[in-house]
Amino acid sequence: MEKLWAGRFAKQADKIADDFNSSIGVDCRMYQQDITGSMAHAAMLAACGILSPEDAEEITKGLEGILQDINSGALQLDMTAEDIHMFVEAELTKRIGDTGKKLHTARSRNDQVALDLRMYLREECKAIEGLLKDLIRVVLKQAKENIDAILPGYTHLQRAQPITFAQHLLAYIAMFQRDIQRLQDASKRMNFSPLGSCALAGTTYPTNRSMVAQALGFDGITSNSIDGVSDRDFCVEILSALSVIMMHLSRFSEEIILWCSWEFRFVELDDSYTTGSSIMPQKKNPDMAELVRGKTGRVYGNLIATLTMLKGLPLAYNKDMQEDKEAIFDGVDTVKQCLKVFIPMIDTMKTQKQAMYAAAQKGFINATDLADYLVGKGLPFRSAYKLVGQLVAYCIQNNTVLEQLPYEEYQKQSSLFEQDLYNAIDLKQCVEKRISQGGTGSSSVQQQIAQVEEFLKA
Ligand code: ARG
Repeated sequence: MEKLWAGRFAKQADKIADDFNSSIGVDCRMYQQDITGSMAHAAMLAACGILSPEDAEEITKGLEGILQDINSGALQLDMTAEDIHMFVEAELTKRIGDTGKKLHTARSRNDQVALDLRMYLREECKAIEGLLKDLIRVVLKQAKENIDAILPGYTHLQRAQPITFAQHLLAYIAMFQRDIQRLQDASKRMNFSPLGSCALAGTTYPTNRSMVAQALGFDGITSNSIDGVSDRDFCVEILSALSVIMMHLSRFSEEIILWCSWEFRFVELDDSYTTGSSIMPQKKNPDMAELVRGKTGRVYGNLIATLTMLKGLPLAYNKDMQEDKEAIFDGVDTVKQCLKVFIPMIDTMKTQKQAMYAAAQKGFINATDLADYLVGKGLPFRSAYKLVGQLVAYCIQNNTVLEQLPYEEYQKQSSLFEQDLYNAIDLKQCVEKRISQGGTGSSSVQQQIAQVEEFLKA
């Protein structure tokens, strides 16, 4: 394909250099944004008297035709074109002749690509927000079904205190809610049109940048032309939001992988979201969760690649910036792919309440409650803590647990113990007594559920 910038050159680009330079294989996915942006630009040029109404009309019709033909498959993208912007413009001129050459008045590919990318990512952020909401919905469904499922809560992966599975799942929902807010926040800052910044310095034509911005659904225009074409903060912000999403999915995956093991047996994944082994007939592996955990690194990599690409760039546009798209598109694709498999995997996951409860009974996770019981009887907490520690040691030596230790043994340690101690260390009671806001007690869990339902409605 002949270069639109061929005028200055005596020789054609070397084939290897040409391929190296070309980005259409990556940026072709922005064809719709590119064409829509061009239509708004043409309309503005006409409104400002820079283009005749007839020319603008011809250009718009031509662009409409190109969009239709790409969508229907009638027009194949020319992969030898330099990028999607060059392709669309050349195709327009092929279709409508010299009028097509007027489209690029008061515009540069530098502001054009910045515009297209913002428009493209705006849609992708919305799509990911939608997927995160779907994920919250299925996690919430699991939480509601497991309000009564008691299991050990862990610190240091050591059994710590009894919680409900609902409470545990609600922790992930809180993360996913923040993930949505982070994307919304980044989108809000991104939603300003850079078009009209032109190559870097603005233009001599009497353009109306706000008109284009408004037509394309932006909240306004970028304030400085140099920043308009050189800013990729929005890529960095979105990639960091995506990295945090992956970090959350990865932590969740890690727990699911543990919970599926025979050592835990807290959950069972549906057959359709697991795989077998080629040699070990008994295996049912949580590959989806492992892959999500594994793909986290590539999204972090995309963030670091983008930050590194930007860090040494003098203002304004530099070709290094073409690398932004591969990184952000891969980040977006990976997160969407992971969410799309994660949602049904969680939706179909079965919980094993008995295994959870059995795990909660060993490990002295009611020891804090026993100490609190003694505090209730007047003992200072530190003394109660020590006394219960001794009781735990005694139980371990005698291969028993606090619930089964005879009353006489308690009496030997302290006369403050009365028969009601067994009620105080009953696991259900231990959970119910966690009445503080945000705690694992059922009233707090119900409150959290109601809050999430409100969030989903909004
Ligand atoms: N394909 C280019 C990119 O993605 C478009 C902008 C090219 N601008 C330029 N001055 N060469 O960055």
